[in-house]
Amino acid sequence: MNVGIDKINFFVPPYYIDMVDLAHARGVDPNKFTIGIGQDQMAVSKMTQDIVTFAMHAAKPLLTAADLAAIDMVIVGTESGIDESKASAVVLHRLLGVQPFARSFEIKEACYGATAGLQFAKSHIQAHPDSKVLVVASDIARYGLASGGEPTQGAGAVAMLVTAEPRILALDNDNVMLTQDIYDFWRPVGHPYPMVDGHLSNEVYINSFKQVWQESCRRNDRSTEDYAAICFHIPYTKMGKKALLAGLASEEQAQQERLLARYEESIVYSRRIGNLYTGSLYLGLISLIENSVALKANDRIGLFSYGSGAVAELFSGHLVAGYEQHVSKENHERLLEEREKLSITDYEKLFNEKIDIDEDKVFQDDLIYSVQEIKQTIRYYKEKNQ
Ligand code: HMG
Repeated sequence: MNVGIDKINFFVPPYYIDMVDLAHARGVDPNKFTIGIGQDQMAVSKMTQDIVTFAMHAAKPLLTAADLAAIDMVIVGTESGIDESKASAVVLHRLLGVQPFARSFEIKEACYGATAGLQFAKSHIQAHPDSKVLVVASDIARYGLASGGEPTQGAGAVAMLVTAEPRILALDNDNVMLTQDIYDFWRPVGHPYPMVDGHLSNEVYINSFKQVWQESCRRNDRSTEDYAAICFHIPYTKMGKKALLAGLASEEQAQQERLLARYEESIVYSRRIGNLYTGSLYLGLISLIENSVALKANDRIGLFSYGSGAVAELFSGHLVAGYEQHVSKENHERLLEEREKLSITDYEKLFNEKIDIDEDKVFQDDLIYSVQEIKQTIRYYKEKNQ
């Protein structure tokens, strides 16, 4: 029995800034952001949009009444939680209308959380093939105005429905995991932004890829030729490219170039969005499937997941025949095209607006799903276009 991704979708908030504008505002050569970092645009969110509203926008269009009746597990991978105790997955479960006899919880390990969720979902479906699991990666990546990490921010969610006999990607059983207790990026409780050692984080990311790649080739008796493409966690688009080139440095030039061409197809959306944290790897997978004409059914796609702190995992899946009919390039391009471009002044204003959870207040937001009210520290969501 195959188990894997049957449906997948992403959502990003309806605002962005141009990285050239940001470079000018920060007194930086724009080429540093567009070439050195590899970002053209960056998603920006409002205070009335959080991981639950992003998750709703990403998941709701995917799910039929039959899916809602079959889902018995809702997993949210996030590092932008809105509560230290209650899982956002519990709120999502109700807002989506999933049948009540389900398990709902949140997973945290920096940008690795959704991968842990996906692997948990896979094991669950292997034991219960008639059920379905919803895995959502939802985050707001923020480092602070004019900080070193500012050009690598972003926001949004990816939702995946994991089932038996999936129609997009059948997951293989070849995972190689790596845990290293390293402080390259972390966010102590109560801190609004992460502490980050940017250059160390790049180094750990690259070394982690090298280690799991070599170990996976050894354990699974594979080489680059066994992969049609490798998707990477994409904190900024140059990062995966650096790891790919460093990890495959001893491989033949033609193999490197082939995988590099697929990598370029996997970063089309990330270049316009930035870091989705837990969702970035899966945004890359959507971009690859929707923008590559070189792929075909049964091709093996490698997936390199990295969460600072640090946990890495390399695993793979096979494209299922007809996979291209179950993704929606048109919708995703429209979502990106219809966003509003903000000036840097407006972005800074939005950035500084924050919900005070201790102050009862009603909010207005045009989005279909948004935070409508704070009452006695509880977030109430607008559940449809009201
Ligand atoms: P920085 O110090 O601003 O930039 O930090 P830099 O000086 O290292 O330059 C960046 C690149 O731009 C370099 O290219 C420069 O040469 C180039 P590279 O040598 O690396 O190939 N450059 C130029 N290129 C063209 N024209 C120019 C020019 N000037 C410079 N004029 C950094 C950059 C990414 C470190 C910073 O933005 C940061 O700290 N970001 C946040 C951390 C991060 O994203 N780390 C990535 C790996 S860790 C990870 O992925 C996990 C994460 O997602 C968190 C989680 O797991 O939850 C972050």
